[in-house]
Amino acid sequence: MTANWTSPGDFMSRKRVAVLISGRGSNMAALIEAAKDKNYPAEIALVVSNVAAAGGLQTARSAGVATAVVNHKKSGKSPKLDRAAFERALQAVLQHHRIDIVCLAGFMRLLSADFVGHWQDRMLNIHPALLPAFKGLDTHKRALEAGVMQHGATVHFVVPEMDSGPIVAQEAIEVRPDDTEVTLAARVLAVEHRIYPLALKLLAEGRVHIERGRCIINTVGSSVGPLIVPGNGGAE
Ligand code: GRF
Repeated sequence: MTANWTSPGDFMSRKRVAVLISGRGSNMAALIEAAKDKNYPAEIALVVSNVAAAGGLQTARSAGVATAVVNHKKSGKSPKLDRAAFERALQAVLQHHRIDIVCLAGFMRLLSADFVGHWQDRMLNIHPALLPAFKGLDTHKRALEAGVMQHGATVHFVVPEMDSGPIVAQEAIEVRPDDTEVTLAARVLAVEHRIYPLALKLLAEGRVHIERGRCIINTVGSSVGPLIVPGNGGAE
């Protein structure tokens, strides 16, 4: 057994994953659910939020997952933290829990190039659009306004530039003529809950490699390009 955790087939030790959230944490919950399978190559060892009131924290606690709050705003006796101090505190928590992989899931705080560099190739994010289209916020509203016929979700490695970085998994759904932001968001969210556990599995198994800025997914005996999960017509 090699000590290199990125080696394909290194399933003996489950990777220790921290999920970073700021809100309801439905993607976090999907990852926790997937990791309940003893054959899943990662365990959700920690959930961290920068918002003490994030709904996802309670979900994580109920599932028996350790939680931490690293709040950059002044609260109670805790002083306001600048970005560097916030990231030092975050890094300390991650180190304390011996985290191998970080998954951003609705984490609404930009991370510095230094922090991102530390977690290079070990930090994923989920975005509710088919990147590189519709980076940023309000993706469903902008997709409807643009009249695109396909929309979806993307899991990608985190790089300093927001909503960029090599794509690990994408799934497209059709945009229906009668879609509203609400209906479209609901179908995209269902996609997110499918592809995030899949992308994390591939990374934790050491099957994802980056070549010239693109992900190569190693499957048994062959390499395929960025994984595109065929849309299922947008079924809920
Ligand atoms: C998701 O749509 C995710 O793609 C985006 O923020 C939202 C978080 O939702 N980055 P949840 O907290 O996982 O329910």
